Amino acid sequence: MNYAGGVDVGSTQTKAVIIDEAGHIVARCLTDTGANVTEAARSAFAACLEAGNIRDEDVRFVIGTGYGRYKVTFGDRQVTEISCHGRGAVHMFPGTRTVIDMGGQDSKAIRVREDGEIVDFCMNDKCAAGTGRFLGAAAKALGMTLDDLGPTALKSAKPVKISTTCTVFAEAEVLSWLGKGKTVEDILWGVHRSIAVRSFGLLRRVGIVDEITFTGGVAKNPGMIKALEEALDKKLNVSQDSHFMGALGAALFAMGAIKAGEARVVERV
Ligand SMILES: Nc1ncnc2c1ncn2[C@@H]1O[C@H](COP(=O)(O)OP(=O)(O)OP(=O)(O)O)[C@@H](O)[C@H]1O
Ligand SMILES: [Mg+2]
Repeated sequence: MNYAGGVDVGSTQTKAVIIDEAGHIVARCLTDTGANVTEAARSAFAACLEAGNIRDEDVRFVIGTGYGRYKVTFGDRQVTEISCHGRGAVHMFPGTRTVIDMGGQDSKAIRVREDGEIVDFCMNDKCAAGTGRFLGAAAKALGMTLDDLGPTALKSAKPVKISTTCTVFAEAEVLSWLGKGKTVEDILWGVHRSIAVRSFGLLRRVGIVDEITFTGGVAKNPGMIKALEEALDKKLNVSQDSHFMGALGAALFAMGAIKAGEARVVERV
């Protein structure tokens, strides 16, 4: 059997997938990246092999992506996460022309062609205010889990207007609104809306062309989906596997290499 692997070592979480020749995900694994990036990549891939009951030698090519892609020591090649999110999104939603990837550390707006090739992209790499870290800071201030953030925000009746544009100050602003008697729901919906407005600005810079696909870990948050849809006044494509889109794209490039007859570059142990 020919399988291909993709490992997306993000600043916050490491995602690994294995796909079959038809491009279906047969195994996936998610782990925190932590301080030992090489180990995160290795253990995520090993867990994937185990979950899919797949032998290492049957995975004929592996591509690393994400900020830690050069730490995927068993990877045969590296591809940027921009290319991988674009490729994965077009594979999963063929009508995709614009991608918004919201990760732990940065957000990226990507314009793609129908074959998955990148037309243009834009990222907020200097500031985490529009990303998962901003949401994480708000969750911490309110003593909530990431899973509860979105569902709680969606109960808001009267959102507050979050003015800070800096993650460092997000916690202080959240606490100050609590002190003024605002509800957790209203504060959180305000946080989601402020991130959605920033993402809208990012998307506008590359041009917003239908269909729009939402990728990255923040796509797990139903509040962020709704806030973005409201800001854009459009429906988004979101899949259960949105968090794995970069890893899927990497695996698809790897399958392309296998089909082109490329040999493995590194021996895996
Ligand atoms: N179940 C969940 N509910 C809500 N948010 C989540 C959930 N799981 C992860 N997230 C969010 O997703 C973020 C991680 O996303 P992702 O794995 O795409 O980032 P990354 O690839 O490590 O970062 P980057 O692309 O910025 O380097 C976390 O910071 C968190 O805010
Ligand atoms: Mg990422």
